[in-house]
Amino acid sequence: MTTLRQHPWGVAVRGLGRGLPERVVTNRDLEAVLDTSDEWIRTRTGIAERRVAAPEQATSDLAVIAAKEALAAAGWTPQDLDLLVVATATPDMIFPSTACVVQAALGAYQAGACDISAACSGFVYALSSVAAQIRAGAARRALVIGAETLSKIVNWQDRSTAVLLGDGAGAVALERVEDGAGEGLLSVYLGADGRGGDLLKQPAGGSRLPASAETVAQGLHYLQMNGREVFKFAVQIMGDAAEEALRRAGLTFADVDLYVPHQANVRIIEASAKRFGLPMEKVWVNIDRYGNTSSASIPIALYEAHQAGRLHPGDVVLLVAFGGGLTWGAAVLRWGAGR
Ligand code: ACO
Repeated sequence: MTTLRQHPWGVAVRGLGRGLPERVVTNRDLEAVLDTSDEWIRTRTGIAERRVAAPEQATSDLAVIAAKEALAAAGWTPQDLDLLVVATATPDMIFPSTACVVQAALGAYQAGACDISAACSGFVYALSSVAAQIRAGAARRALVIGAETLSKIVNWQDRSTAVLLGDGAGAVALERVEDGAGEGLLSVYLGADGRGGDLLKQPAGGSRLPASAETVAQGLHYLQMNGREVFKFAVQIMGDAAEEALRRAGLTFADVDLYVPHQANVRIIEASAKRFGLPMEKVWVNIDRYGNTSSASIPIALYEAHQAGRLHPGDVVLLVAFGGGLTWGAAVLRWGAGR
């Protein structure tokens, strides 16, 4: 297998963007409507507040905000794009894809556009797919967006899921560079185990259980999760995925300058950092402010780490995600000098 390190073309990050709804819902707000407490949510998950989209706000609206910021940071216009991919589990509608809605909103009419569905691992899957397109010569400049409005599929009466999730979007502008061994994406590793599909799902609204008065009455359009089983799976798979991605990059945990994990539960993040031998100073955590934003969590975290001056040229950045499917993915980046 030709590793990414040996490929003649590299894939570099040129810009980052973020899109968040304005409304902040705190744990205290949830205490008022659910049998829960700020103390339970903080100690079990690390979450203090989350963003919730307005009724008229769809996933593409947040994605467009993030996309425009990433384009501006890269110094590109929408017309510079060859490809636009949105990772989401909460598309505006089943089709057309959210990516096509975003493409039209940006006026990036020359760009190919599609969605990727891999739940919380969606951003890493999309990053991997777009990088492969770039390396295959199918695109030179692309946007990868992770965007979600999970508040729209959450049962706000179910305390076991409602307290965990939030809305948001993050975007990354990627460009082909001639030096494949230099900055940018050094390796990716993707995995899935479809046997675990029942642990995390939205049962109705697809071809198995099309929307009907009965499915709505039974609440089958809401997200369902077996939290305990997902927790156990996550702790194991984050370690395995990170090790494999680093091995493919020819690196070890000692080389990692910043670990940017999917933000699902601070206890999962801490357990994985401990296994990696990474001090928490090398881990980007923002779950306290956003909860779990699924495929948006890693690009939002990357954006904030960059804004905070935590990414320096040459830094090795480890991204690790897991989620419904079950799916998982890890990627290793070498941060570039930027434009
Ligand atoms: N407030 C108060 N009590 C609660 C709440 C709540 N919001 N939710 C659950 N509880 C109760 C439970 O009913 C249970 O009570 P019992 O012991 O009387 O039965 C008790 O708290 C403990 O519940 P557990 O499920 O054992 O709690 P745990 O420590 O496992 O934490 C959690 C639950 C936070 C869901 C955890 O399992 C977790 O984070 N799992 C992973 C979730 C995840 O990563 N999902 C990823 C993807 S989401 C996506 O793809 C969109």
